[in-house]
Amino acid sequence: MSEEFKLELTVRPRRLRAAASRRALVEETRLDPADLIAPLFVIEGDGEPRAVESMPGVFRLPVSHLVAECRELHELGVPAVALFPSLDGSLKDEAGTAALDGNGLVLRAVRAVRNEVPGLTVITDIALDPYTTHGHDGVLTADGGEVANDATVAVLAEMAVLHASAGVDLVAPSDMMDGRVGAIRAALDRAGYSSTGILAYSAKFASAFYGPFRDAVGSATGAGHPPLDKRTYQLNPANRREALREVSLDEAEGADIVMVKPAGPYLDIIRDVRNHTGLPVAAYQVSGEYAQIRAAAERGWLDPGAGRDESLLAIKRAGADMILTYFAKEAATAMSGTV
Ligand code: PBG
Repeated sequence: MSEEFKLELTVRPRRLRAAASRRALVEETRLDPADLIAPLFVIEGDGEPRAVESMPGVFRLPVSHLVAECRELHELGVPAVALFPSLDGSLKDEAGTAALDGNGLVLRAVRAVRNEVPGLTVITDIALDPYTTHGHDGVLTADGGEVANDATVAVLAEMAVLHASAGVDLVAPSDMMDGRVGAIRAALDRAGYSSTGILAYSAKFASAFYGPFRDAVGSATGAGHPPLDKRTYQLNPANRREALREVSLDEAEGADIVMVKPAGPYLDIIRDVRNHTGLPVAAYQVSGEYAQIRAAAERGWLDPGAGRDESLLAIKRAGADMILTYFAKEAATAMSGTV
């Protein structure tokens, strides 16, 4: 077709895309460091950070390094961190007893961050998988065949009170037991921690994308027979309505924020949840989502920065108010314009 060919078009959407300034005017979704929450892994000792092999760029941090990382994140405008302990195997047992150790690793980490970076919101995970030899999120039934719901909830409620007493701002039950949000809320209130909030992993799916995280906390090989099967408590990836049912229950039980996890492969669920509740919605861009982008970038198959930003933007566009992401520091650094 020749250059002279002219369509009789009144409407030409490209007008608004013709220059960067015009594209900025009509941009509907914008990422900000304040949207991000950084998940961080903590280890014992005062040695060097230890790389997580399956998550290039992610390290398990001894407490002193963790504090320094939190300070940097705070300065970059990232408002919150979510802490996960990576425990020595010798401290794990069938019942996850170490989760109730009042001087346990994650509690010492919380106290240090609380003291050194007071402005930062500190979130901790409430689940037993970093503490159990089998890697499940709760205690098992007597015959060992199943994760026991109510017995697990009792331990989680106790764990949440312990975390609140260490100064955690938001406890984040990631276990998917029935009734745990209500039990945790009641236990916190009874113990005088009515201002400690609950970030509920409400729509948490039984996902293959948690693989690298299980390497990081050592829950994958704990039982000696991976892959770890959590389908009796985590949601079936095929189910949308059931995800909303979980959100309704957690809201009724007193959740302050509800979460969808994973994020990228579940954008439809994020949108459904956004339309379903007036509560703030969080989404967790999990370890496997991070690893995919990193691995492709290492092979030169996609641009890491652009892939990172687009993946986060899509999650926000779908309806998430906040995103847990291993890219938090890198993305916030890029947004600050210093690189
Ligand atoms: C378990 C928990 C998991 C993650 C956070 N908390 C994994 C699991 O359910 O086995 C995964 C996070 C990630 O993959 O980044 N309580």
